[in-house]
Amino acid sequence: MKNINPTETKSWKKLQEHFKDMKKVHIKELFFDDKNRFNNFSTIFNNKMVVDFSKNLITNYTIKLLLNLAKETFVSNAIEEMFSGKIINLTENRAVLHTALRNRSSKPIYINQKNIMLEINKNLEKMKIFSKKVISGEWKGYTGKIITDIVNIGIGGSHLGPEMVTEALKPYKNKLNIHFISNIDGTHVTEVFKKINLEQTLFIISSKTFLTQETMTNANTIKKWFMTSTPKKINFQKHFIAVSMNIKLAVDFGIHKNNIFPVWSWVGGRYSLWSSVGLPIMLSIGYKNFVNLLKGAYDMDQHFLKTKFNKNIPVLLALIGIWYNNFFKSETEAIFPYDQYMHKFSLYFQQGNMESNGKSIDRNKKLVKWKTGPIVWGESGTNGQHSFYQLIHQGTRLIPCDFIIPAISHNSINDHHIKLISHFLGQTYALAFGDDSNNFSKKGTNLNDSFHIFKNCVGNKPTNSILIKKITPSTLGSLIALYEHKIFVQGIILNIFSFDQWGVELGKDSSKKILQQLLDIKRKNSFDSSTSGLIKFYEFFKKSNK
Ligand code: F6P
Repeated sequence: MKNINPTETKSWKKLQEHFKDMKKVHIKELFFDDKNRFNNFSTIFNNKMVVDFSKNLITNYTIKLLLNLAKETFVSNAIEEMFSGKIINLTENRAVLHTALRNRSSKPIYINQKNIMLEINKNLEKMKIFSKKVISGEWKGYTGKIITDIVNIGIGGSHLGPEMVTEALKPYKNKLNIHFISNIDGTHVTEVFKKINLEQTLFIISSKTFLTQETMTNANTIKKWFMTSTPKKINFQKHFIAVSMNIKLAVDFGIHKNNIFPVWSWVGGRYSLWSSVGLPIMLSIGYKNFVNLLKGAYDMDQHFLKTKFNKNIPVLLALIGIWYNNFFKSETEAIFPYDQYMHKFSLYFQQGNMESNGKSIDRNKKLVKWKTGPIVWGESGTNGQHSFYQLIHQGTRLIPCDFIIPAISHNSINDHHIKLISHFLGQTYALAFGDDSNNFSKKGTNLNDSFHIFKNCVGNKPTNSILIKKITPSTLGSLIALYEHKIFVQGIILNIFSFDQWGVELGKDSSKKILQQLLDIKRKNSFDSSTSGLIKFYEFFKKSNK
């Protein structure tokens, strides 16, 4: 990986100049000038996904400069290094190989001369056998009854991916009920426990480190509750399995060694749904569908690896993101899936993007003077339309948005889906072209002419539209891999390390220190007046409640 300061490249400087012209341009004009704009600024992936980026504030020249930026920052090199298992996560001294987990070819992938595909495939087989046993009812609980409920205990990367995908692929779901406990707030475990029956529940303790406080606190509480109802060790092992890199701690916890599914150091938590962390997904939709998810991601990997950058979807979306983030100075980026099953998608990529690219020291160990990761947020359409879209349409901020929709719904009831499609198209149309006709009387309002200005929507709000044939395990796999690679390309160009999360680690440490204070172990700790003041009030409220 080359460590290039992007702002010192020729293309960055040219982009700054070009921006001065582009900020005066309206998307309307761009469409007026180029009747073929959709064809010129859209691309199709495997006949299952169309990515239209024509409703952006870009011209051919913008794309040319952005592609030069990718060249000057050696993006191709970095892609090659990631896929071939080079140690590109230098701050943690690790390779980054989530792509190996979905390698559906017979190509070996080496780390220190060891072909990791052998362990990956062996583990996939182990997951297959295990999930088949649970789904078929062969795996029984301590009273001899079949398993009906799966509870995944994990947080961050060990939770968000499996939950997002099991929700998105609900139409492919079998009879097993899948639950997630992530929050250390006792409410989470309490509420999930109201829905399950211990004798028919299987708990997956999913933690790469087996050290994360939230996960281990929840796991210990559940173990205690379980042991008080069924005190025999053998029963415990029928109901608890683990996904972890830390085999010793999982065995110490009481999990049978055969029921520990490995994760490897070269899989980042937020990129781990393709590994054993995806076990709840396989349990929910079965082995075949899980493999189709991998296959879809593999197809996108191949597109990313082999397609020229001017047609390369993750590269183009990454470049367009940098264009807004760094030149238009937009602060946020929204993702709106027009599919209720995909309601966790933006939340998932909130972690994916913000934990990866929320950095301010560059790979040359210097403080960055440019914008790194954007604030990512979103909600499923059409709900957002009746909530925060107003600000996107008429507010003072520029918010680039991605709109995602399947052409074919899993629930084609009456005219629901055609209406949903009309909202998807209608919103991106209105955002781009606005309505400054000032002729609102036509719309039958009673507004006096002098108030018409308030209805003026100038448009010029950029969007990407992603139209997918249908949300299937395969297309979802491709879509997730697309966003993963987009984040990767942005991290490379922005010259940061995308695969560590030291800020999160600091947060973990400071809560530990404060917990010691609250537990009276280290009363000597002195904090700032705000933290100490809040601790005093916490103790006061607690005492006064007795
Ligand atoms: O949120 C920080 C983090 O380190 C994530 O990157 C990770 O996915 C999560 O904590 C959980 O970690 P573990 O799987 O080790 O419990």
